Amino acid sequence: MENAKKMRPVPIDDLIVKQKVLVDLYVQLSDQKHVLIAKAGTNTSQEVLQKFKDKGVAYLYVRPEDFLALVKNSISIAGMAVGSKSLSNLSKLNVIEEALGSVYQEMASIGVNEQVLTHAKLVNEATMTVMAGQPQLSALVQKFQTLTSETAKHTMLVSMVAVMLGQGHEWIKLATLEKLALGGLLHDIGKLKLPPDIATQDPMRLSHDEMVIYKSHPELGRQMLAGTKGLPDDVLLIVYEHHERSDGSGFPRGLRDFQISPLARVVALANEFAEIVLGQGKEITERSARKALEEIELGKTTLYNKDAVRVLHRLVDGEPLKKAV
Ligand SMILES: [Fe+2]
Repeated sequence: MENAKKMRPVPIDDLIVKQKVLVDLYVQLSDQKHVLIAKAGTNTSQEVLQKFKDKGVAYLYVRPEDFLALVKNSISIAGMAVGSKSLSNLSKLNVIEEALGSVYQEMASIGVNEQVLTHAKLVNEATMTVMAGQPQLSALVQKFQTLTSETAKHTMLVSMVAVMLGQGHEWIKLATLEKLALGGLLHDIGKLKLPPDIATQDPMRLSHDEMVIYKSHPELGRQMLAGTKGLPDDVLLIVYEHHERSDGSGFPRGLRDFQISPLARVVALANEFAEIVLGQGKEITERSARKALEEIELGKTTLYNKDAVRVLHRLVDGEPLKKAV
């Protein structure tokens, strides 16, 4: 058994293609338990790994010191190669890591399907690993966390709900879910370029002129991230289009539902859900989740993609969603 907090998830697909097992590999039994399934240097058959994959295991775990050896062999998450020299950045993301823990606990307490939730958490953890390996991204995210005390929690909730909605859509490709997680984490990064009093103010309270400035944050975010090596275009689209609305009333371009990137439509809904839920108080409760769903279904049906709203309904109502593999 290994210390759960330090273990790093690695997509099983990246391990199956390797000729031999380079480092000790663990499978996660629970948050606290990881069991060794393949020892470094031994002749572990790739069939063993394939069997785990067939059972629905998407990630295996490695110790952080071993992760360095693996990243040199190009681990890929959300289509981005992880090329970190050091994982020390990961500890700097601890605020967001803690936020992941509390959001997970609170989502579990409202009765969301446990298997889907656990998988979403794993996808988010893997995404944080890729960020830690990208100094530019991780510096931005660290800076963003300090905007307000709620930022980290909001960001993580958007990311996690977006992944769960993706699973509900049966977008079973792991890379797609990882893009949702990454897009969820980065969606508001453009706010870093806004004057702090506008970035942190409730948009409803902004003056007309301030609102014009506020509405530039998706474009600013896209510009900030555009130079990031290997960042998938889908993630840039999430950042650029997360305020577009299905009836064309959103910004910056006033796109209609079919014109909005499918991943951005999902993050837009996750963002609304997170805003309502966390606006009720500091914690996510069954009451606040249902209220958010009600508010969206009664008053905002034209704003969001209908399929995404249906999936959210199933999620909050506790109906099982298919687990992605
Ligand atoms: Fe935003």
